[in-house]
Parts: sequence; structure tokens; C-alpha cells
Amino acid sequence: MRRPTTITPPKGNLGVLTVGMGAVATTFMAGVDLIRNNAAQPVGSTTQLGTIRLGKRTEGRTPLIKDFVPLDPLENLVFGGWDLFPDTAYEAAAHAAVLSSEDLAKAKKFLSGIRPMKAAFDRNYVKRLDGPNVKKAKNKYDLALEIKNDIAEFRKKSKASRCVVIWCGSTEIFLTPEEVHSTAKKFEEGMKKNHPAIAPSMLYAWAAITSGVPFANGAPNLTLDIPAMQELAAKHDAPICGKDFKTGQTLLKTILAPGLKARMIGLNGWFSTNILGNRDGEVLEDPESFKTKEESKLGALEYILQPKLYPNLYGNVCHKVRINYYPPRGDNKEGWDNIDIFGWLGYPMQIKVDFLCRDSILAAPLALDLVLFLDLAQRAGLHGIQEWLSFFFKSPMCAPELYPEHDLFIQSMKMKNTLRWMMGEELITHLGSEYYD
Ligand SMILES: NC(=O)c1ccc[n+]([C@@H]2O[C@H](COP(=O)([O-])OP(=O)(O)OC[C@H]3O[C@@H](n4cnc5c(N)ncnc54)[C@H](O)[C@@H]3O)[C@@H](O)[C@H]2O)c1
Repeated sequence: MRRPTTITPPKGNLGVLTVGMGAVATTFMAGVDLIRNNAAQPVGSTTQLGTIRLGKRTEGRTPLIKDFVPLDPLENLVFGGWDLFPDTAYEAAAHAAVLSSEDLAKAKKFLSGIRPMKAAFDRNYVKRLDGPNVKKAKNKYDLALEIKNDIAEFRKKSKASRCVVIWCGSTEIFLTPEEVHSTAKKFEEGMKKNHPAIAPSMLYAWAAITSGVPFANGAPNLTLDIPAMQELAAKHDAPICGKDFKTGQTLLKTILAPGLKARMIGLNGWFSTNILGNRDGEVLEDPESFKTKEESKLGALEYILQPKLYPNLYGNVCHKVRINYYPPRGDNKEGWDNIDIFGWLGYPMQIKVDFLCRDSILAAPLALDLVLFLDLAQRAGLHGIQEWLSFFFKSPMCAPELYPEHDLFIQSMKMKNTLRWMMGEELITHLGSEYYD
């Protein structure tokens, strides 16, 4: 990939379209409104609070990321979305019960103006949901064309000069790549024939990408990770990234596991269990949606620990993940980890983690960062898989011949070096031998 020589400045509004207007999407929208009105801080957002070191440690150049790369300011963001429930973003946020009544009241005017467009929804892919705000069309191809039209209409009405689409919809059932996903042509024929391996999330992705609009997948379902989407992303100059926001338990896993491995501490087992009571938890009660999530959550450890390279330390790890829907907790999830480690001479030890987290509070800043970075990538002339955005995902996408990078610290370094590379700054290797010459 060639280094961008120019990055088009962000002029005009940036349209942000969320597929799904549930807990994550409405917490994201409300947060942007509160932050714009100086009523809250963008805690958790790399684009808003992160800094980046440039040049040598002695130079003292550490600007904010948002001052270093030409990101769109929050003032320019305009929001829309789709959902199978007709509730406005205000009603949906009240239902999700993430925000306090004080914060909700402050964002009421803004959120009440955001009404979902009709969803392309099919119960075969999310079994625990049903709602009335749904498109009707002859086949999946026509549904996808309607979504394309929605994007074009939204762009016109909101006077957005660019758009980004982000999947904040429910987790769909587990699917694996098939022949119909292998080329753009086969995929289009498949949509016309209502092929069962084409899920609604893929229709949104197809519509966005073929409109030249970047797409991020915040859920673990198979959507962008098929050759047809990658072919189309190259053809239509659309940057894409996914999948599954890395927020709670897996975030901690990818913080702890690289540390244990760096110290050559052995691991016998890692048992992770969760209770959560939001709509996401309800959807994940369905074994087919859970399977999608489980695959996404299980991958990280294996890639970080590299059991083939360290068979004595990590060759026999028992890794289990459980999720239980427990309504009293709402969006305030509890995730327990029991980690059985061993040290010098094989002596066993244990670590217990009890993370009382707030799912959507952790996910909302990631949605913001992804939208801003995807828009930046497009203005920098980048398209296709944006591996440098792995930092935000549980199951990061990468080129087919590569293995994904899960280590949060390598991901962070990769992201920052990509920003330096985009801006023509020297990459940072952390060698530092020059300080001792
Ligand atoms: N919150 C987190 O920390 C976190 C982390 C990783 C991934 N995720 C994923 O993000 C997604 C959103 O999470 P949430 O807590 O907001 O869930 P949610 O249930 O509150 O919201 C999802 C919304 O998507 C809508 N939806 C489902 N299918 C749709 C379709 N085809 N078209 C349009 N709308 C559709 C639902 O009606 C619902 O309102 C889930 O898939 C979840 O697994 C969340």
C-alpha cells in the first residue's frame, strides 16, 4: 500500500449511520451531544483524548491525535440509522437504561430528532427479536437497493458531504463463508435468489460499500469478512473494518495475556463467565447467536499465546467462555475470570478478575473513534481492510495470508505508527540507541 501523499480536509457534515439504534448506538449519539455541549468528557475515546509522540523523546512533541491528523470535529457529525423498532433515539436510549435520567434529559431534544429508518431484518438471523419497523421487498437484492437509497436520501437531507455506516445491530447467528460469498458477482446473484447464507448485516455492508461509504462491524457476525465485500471495497474505494467491539472481558484478556506471556508465565486455564441483562444479553441467549460471540471471544488467547511456539507454557490451555442473560443487571455487566497460571518450576497460582463494567459506556467511544478514523482513512485514499484499527476489535480483520494481531499493545503501536505514516512522520521503533551514542 502506498503512503497517502495528501489527505483531503474534512469539509461539511459527516453523516453517521448506525445499523441498530439500541444501547450502544444511542449511548454513542447521546455522548456526542453531551460532549459538544460541554456537559461531559469523551473518556475512553482515543481520537478525542489520545496523544501521539512524534520524533525523538528529547523533542517534546506530543500533540493530541485530533490535532495531528485532520479528523472531523464532533460539531460536524450528523446522525441517522435503522432499527426494527420505530422508537426515536431518545425512546430507545430510555429503554436501554444506560444513561442517568439527568444525562438523558440533557440529550432529549437531540435524540428525539433521530428516527430510525425501516430495517432490513429477518428473524432467521436473530431469533429472539421481532419488530414492526421492517422493509418489505421481493428479495434480498431489492432490500439492499432500498438501503442504498436510504443512504443517498439521508446524505441529501442532512447535507452530509461524506457518510460512514457502523453496525451496532444485534449479533446474528453463526455463519461460515460459502461459495456465494466468494465473488461480488456470485454475491449479487445470491441476493437475487434469497440465498440463506446472506444475512441482513451483509445487505447493509453491500449497500454502504457500493455507495463508496466506509463500513465498520461492531458485532461478531460474518459480514465484511468474505471475499465479495473485500472485492467491492477495493472497487468502490471504501475502507472497511471489524469485527466485534473489544470492550469488557476480552479487553482485559488482551491486556493481561500479553503481560503473562512477556514474563514467560505459564497458563493452564482461563475460565470466563458473564452475566448481563440488556437486549444484547437476551439475543445472546439464543445458542446460534451465542456461538457467533463465543467464536469471537475465544480467538484472542490462542493468537496472543502462540501455543505452537511455547508448547510447555501454553500448549494445554483450557479456555472457556460463558454468557448468561440475567435481567436484573441491565447494561451493567459483571464478568468474572479465573486464571490458572504457573511459575518457576511449574508451581501453580491463580488470578481472579471481577469486572463490574458498563457495556455501552465502554463501547460508545469505540464507535466514535471508528467512525472518525474510517472517514480519515477514506480521505487519505485508503480502502479495503484497515488492519490498523484492530485495536478496537475482538476479532480483528486482516489480509487472508496473515494471522490477526490481538495484543492490545502491538495494536496500539500499529495504530499510532499508521497515523505517523499517513502524515509523513518518522515511525517509532522504540530502539532508542541514538540516545546513548
Ligand atoms: N456493548 C458492548 O460492549 C459490545 C461489545 C462488543 C459487541 N457488541 C455488539 O454490538 C451490538 C449492539 O449492542 P447493543 O448492546 O447496542 O444491543 P441492543 O440489543 O441494545 O441494540 C441492537 C439493536 O439492533 C437492532 N437490530 C437488530 N437487527 C437489526 C437489523 N437487521 N437492522 C436494523 N436494526 C437491527 C435491534 O432492534 C436493537 O435495537 C451487539 O451485536 C453486541 O453484541 C457490544
